[in-house]
This record gives sequence, structure tokens and C-alpha cells, in this order.
Amino acid sequence: MNTDAMIKEFSSQFGKTPDHIFFCPGRVNIIGEHIDYNGGKVMPCAISLGTWLAVSKNNNKLLRFSSLNFPAKADFHLQDSYTKTGKDWFNYPLGVINEIVQNGDHISGLDMLFYGNLPIGAGLSSSASIEIVTGFALNKLFHLNISEKDLALMGKKVENEFIGVNSGIMDQFAVVMGKKDKAILLNCDTLEFEYLPFETGDHILAIINSNKKRTLADSKYNERFAECGKALKALKKELKVDNLCDISLSDFEEHRHLIDDPVLDKRALHVISENFRVGEARDALKVNDLVSLGKEMFASHQSLRDWYEVSGKELDTIVEFCKTYDDCIGARMTGAGFGGCAIALVKKDKFTDFSSRLVEYYDGKIGYKCDVFESEIGDGAREIK
Ligand code: GLA
Repeated sequence: MNTDAMIKEFSSQFGKTPDHIFFCPGRVNIIGEHIDYNGGKVMPCAISLGTWLAVSKNNNKLLRFSSLNFPAKADFHLQDSYTKTGKDWFNYPLGVINEIVQNGDHISGLDMLFYGNLPIGAGLSSSASIEIVTGFALNKLFHLNISEKDLALMGKKVENEFIGVNSGIMDQFAVVMGKKDKAILLNCDTLEFEYLPFETGDHILAIINSNKKRTLADSKYNERFAECGKALKALKKELKVDNLCDISLSDFEEHRHLIDDPVLDKRALHVISENFRVGEARDALKVNDLVSLGKEMFASHQSLRDWYEVSGKELDTIVEFCKTYDDCIGARMTGAGFGGCAIALVKKDKFTDFSSRLVEYYDGKIGYKCDVFESEIGDGAREIK
């Protein structure tokens, strides 16, 4: 789908050409998984896939939602607030509009056509992408002067309160602030961040979609969130901290006896060790040491598999293959897990061979194919037309 094709579709649905087209990418997270809501540091990058929004104001006092990915359409009259209706896709942009009008900002009716090329619910932040493209567009159309940081925080609020998932700030921040060929090192407690060079030289960053549907992902995600809260509460009996990620590995070793539930102990071990690995990965990236970065990625996967238990046989099969493939120097699941995508650092000139062997191996073990593609690290949300 290119811009011209979107304009054509918009015209046939709304009888006029769109005034603007906006784009917001998805993201991959290089390392630092399930620690954004524990005050940790994460390292996401925006990618070139994402969500487009063609939009015009209308005088009918109607919010008209349409998508090229889903058959469901919706019209809402302009109101002071909106509530989630069912599980349809338009709840994500509707949640953002709800936030904006609840903040007291006035908007007009809108004709909106969305199109996305991110695999949906595959751990590449399709939801943050559609939320932020909406917030970004309304910010521009109605001169709302919302800062990029506040746009990200608004997206998180929608996810937490409108959609009902206790997710952290990583995805929304990454898709707003992404920069070409850079990873964002984000402190999720303070929202301080820096860009790190992500130049993969003779390697490429591959994205592997397991094509495993993420059933129950939201409830499992909220379960992990609650478990972290319980582990923190136990550790706070002796440690003066606000977040699990404020705890060093050595302090954790000294105090882990305070957690009497072995499941909670494993969850805390993942979180605290993952935050440490992000530091190691940052040091590696700063000197362009991809081999050390790759080792941290493999270690991160092991921790998510054994301690945080958010992987699964599909993602494990992918990473298992990557470990045996000489020219793959690191791999891990990315995003929330429970299915979805993995990422891998692979020698450029071996990519075709890597892909075909991985697809064959995966099909043999799982019974259907995974998709392997090269990821381009791109810029964050922007206006296209
Ligand atoms: C999802 C959430 C993020 C983050 C990741 C796991 O993508 O939206 O906030 O918690 O899972 O790292």
C-alpha cells in the first residue's frame, strides 16, 4: 500500500481526498523485556513497518473510523467522553480521542482511514502504533501542543485505562521518539533517554514472526505485572526502593529470602538480572561490540523462558535454532511474548540461507511456518502528506 493507493481508498469511502496522511511505526526491543513497568531500562528501536492514517475534518460532528485491515467500521457522534465498545480495533484510536476530549480540548468531526502493515498482536507494538498515529494526527490537526513525551504517556494511559492492559511506557515512547539507525536507551522510571548508534555492519537484524496467536496474552501480562508488585512488596520489608529495578543483583541475592513464593522469586530474578543485562548491552553497543550484545540477547531469552515464563515452544524453537547457526550471534523473543516475534543478529551474506533453514526447522517442529524478514530501524511518528 502506498500513499496514492491510500488516497484512492479514502476518496472512494469518504467522497473526497484526505487533507493529511500520518505514519507511526512499530518497534522491536533489542533488550530489556518486561522491565519498563518495573522502572528499568529498555532499548527499543522504531522499525519501518507501521500504521498510516489518512484523515480529513468533517462538518457532520461525526468521528468516522474505517480500516483497510479490518471489516468493522464505526461512527461516533462528537461527545465529551467515550467508552470501550467490544474488542474491535477502533477502540485504540477511540481511547486516544477520549483522552484528548477529556483533557478539555475541542475537536471537530473526522473522517479516518487506517492501514497497517505490522503483523497484528505479534509483539511489534501494533497497538502503540495505532494509538500514537491518532494522537500525533490530532495534535497537528487541532494545534494541541502536546509534547512527544506527553503523547507517549497518553498512549500508555489509553492502554492501561481504556483498553485494560497494565503495560509500561516502552512501546509508545519508542514509536514516537524512534530515530533511523539508533536504539533508544530509555530509563522507564525517569523517562530520561539517549540514542545509541545501532549500526549492524556486516550483520542484519532479522525479525522472525512465530505466527503463534497470542491468546490470553493480556491476562497473562497483567498476571506478571501483579506478581512483580508482590515480589517488590516482600523485598520492601528490608530494602528502601520504589521499583524492582532499583535493586542490584547483589542486594537481591542478600534479600531474596524475603520472598517465600518460588514463582515470585523467579519473576524478580528475571527483572533484576534483565536490567543488569541492559547495562552490559549498552556498554557493548557503545563500542560496537555486536558479539557481546548477542550474548546478552541469548541470556535475556533464557531468563524470559525459565524465570519469567513468557516465551513458549514456538519462540524457544526459533531461538534454539539460532543458537546452533554459526552466523547468528544473538537472538531472543521481543515484546510481551506468549507467541509473537523474535529478533536475531545474523551475518548479512548468510541471511537467505538462515531464513530458509529456520523456516524448515520450525515447520518440522511446530507444524506451520514462521516468517523471517529483515528489519530496518526507522524514524518515529511523522506526517507524510
Ligand atoms: C508489551 C508492553 C510493554 C512492555 C513489553 C515487554 O509490549 O506494551 O510496555 O512491557 O510488553 O517488555
